[in-house]
Amino acid sequence: METTLVLLKPDAVRRGLMSEIIGRFERRGFRFRGMRLLQLDRETAERHYAEHSERPFFGELVDFITSGPIVALALEADGAVQTVRDMMGKTNPLESAPGTIRGDLALVLSENVIHGSDSPESAERELGIYFPDGLL
Ligand code: RTP
Ligand code: MG
Repeated sequence: METTLVLLKPDAVRRGLMSEIIGRFERRGFRFRGMRLLQLDRETAERHYAEHSERPFFGELVDFITSGPIVALALEADGAVQTVRDMMGKTNPLESAPGTIRGDLALVLSENVIHGSDSPESAERELGIYFPDGLL
C-alpha cells in the first residue's frame, strides 16, 4: 500500500470546492489516513515547493499557497501517487482532460485547485511536512 499527500489549494477552499474534491477521493475508495485544515506560513510553503526555488514564478507560488486556508489529505491505496495524479489532470488546466479535477474545476495555471505528490519519494517527504505526528 502507498500513501500520497494531497493539498486542496486556497482557491479550492475559497470557491467552496472542498466537498466536491474530497468526495471524488472518497467515492474512488481511498483510505483517509489524515485530514487537516491549515494555513501555511512562508517558511513551510518554501519547504513544500523547494524544488521550484530557482524558478521565476517561485515568489508567486508561495504568495498564492499562503493566501488562505488549505486542506491537507493523506490518502492510501495501491498506486495512490499515480492514481491521484491521474485524477488531478495536467498541471495547466487548459490542457487537463474533462473528467479530471482540474479539467472540470479550473481554468488558470496559477490557481489549479489541487496539489498531489509526484512520486513515492515526494509523498514521503511531503507527508512529513503536513503530518509530522504520523497517520491514522
Ligand atoms: P503541484 O506541485 O502544485 O501539485 O502541481 P504540479 O506537480 O502539477 O506542477 P509543478 O510543476 O510541480 O508546479 C507547481 C505549481 O506551480 C505553478 N506553475 N506555474 N508559471 C509557470 O510556468 C508555472 N509552472 C507551474 C502551477 O500552479 C503548479 O501547480
Ligand atoms: Mg508538483
